[in-house]
Amino acid sequence: MKIIVTGGTGQLGRAFAVLADSFEGQIVTLSSREMDVTIPCQVNDRFNQIRPDVVVHAGAFTAVDAAEASPMQAFKINVVGTRNIAAACLNYNSKMVYLSSDYVFDGNQSHPYTEFDRPNPINVYGSSKLEGELIASRICPKLFVIRTSWLYGDGRNFVRTILKLAQEREYLTVVNDQIGTPTYTADLVQSIMSIVETDGFGTYHMSNNGYCTWYDFAKEIVRLAGLATPVQPVRSDEFAAPALRPHYSVLRNYMLELSVGDKFRSWQEALAEYIKKGK
Ligand SMILES: NC(=O)c1ccc[n+]([C@@H]2O[C@H](COP(=O)([O-])OP(=O)(O)OC[C@H]3O[C@@H](n4cnc5c(N)ncnc54)[C@H](OP(=O)(O)O)[C@@H]3O)[C@@H](O)[C@H]2O)c1
Repeated sequence: MKIIVTGGTGQLGRAFAVLADSFEGQIVTLSSREMDVTIPCQVNDRFNQIRPDVVVHAGAFTAVDAAEASPMQAFKINVVGTRNIAAACLNYNSKMVYLSSDYVFDGNQSHPYTEFDRPNPINVYGSSKLEGELIASRICPKLFVIRTSWLYGDGRNFVRTILKLAQEREYLTVVNDQIGTPTYTADLVQSIMSIVETDGFGTYHMSNNGYCTWYDFAKEIVRLAGLATPVQPVRSDEFAAPALRPHYSVLRNYMLELSVGDKFRSWQEALAEYIKKGK
């Protein structure tokens, strides 16, 4: 099996690069320099060269606050770029895996979102990811839409930020009114690989199990790292972040439960392994 991964320099792309070492087939992770998804001829050249069986489209405009100031850039990469990948997947008969987000939901629900709940994004990033889902589903018949949440792995992420700040500051303040689920990229890669082997196309939620607030998450990071830095809870409206964020975006891995089974471990177990590994 030949797999292309877009967003090869990102957190999820790097987790696929780790898998490439032990994978029996071929995994090619591509940076935006190697294949800019917004440029159709670059996409076609790469597909022609590699002829992938599967394309994991993880490349995206992921800066949630910056998307509010640059909606055209966010839509160009997340919608037009996704359209280009979907069209190439159709032409080359490749399966497509489109990475989407818990931020397609508005957060007004108080129980975990399944794949059958109605998306209603409340910020530019969430809107662009949802439009990416829709455009891909109109073009590519062999499509898996994977919604995940609060990713961390190799790269810039919340865990690394908290670890750094906890060593520099006397105390930390972290928002305590947004509930979601941290997800370890290594666990997500395993789950994606188990589903791409099937023809069970459609939308899947894939997050580690359980839920927490960013404050709970930060406290657990500090505890697992053996640090004593106090963490104080604050409300989102005490931070003047440009993008609104859903108050509740917990995903239930319902389609996995209904098909191959939900093998995700708890977010606490995954985080403990990540911190123990030190990367
Ligand atoms: N991070 C999260 O918490 C989270 C939560 C839910 C869903 N997701 C989704 O999961 C996926 C992976 O996220 P991540 O955390 O791994 O992202 P990330 O670390 O922010 O990396 C984003 C990647 O997108 C690439 N990219 C940007 N513009 C591109 C373009 N025009 N053409 C090709 N590639 C481009 C970047 O490549 P260069 O560096 O080479 O420019 C980078 O490798 C994304 O689709 C994201 O929307 C993420």
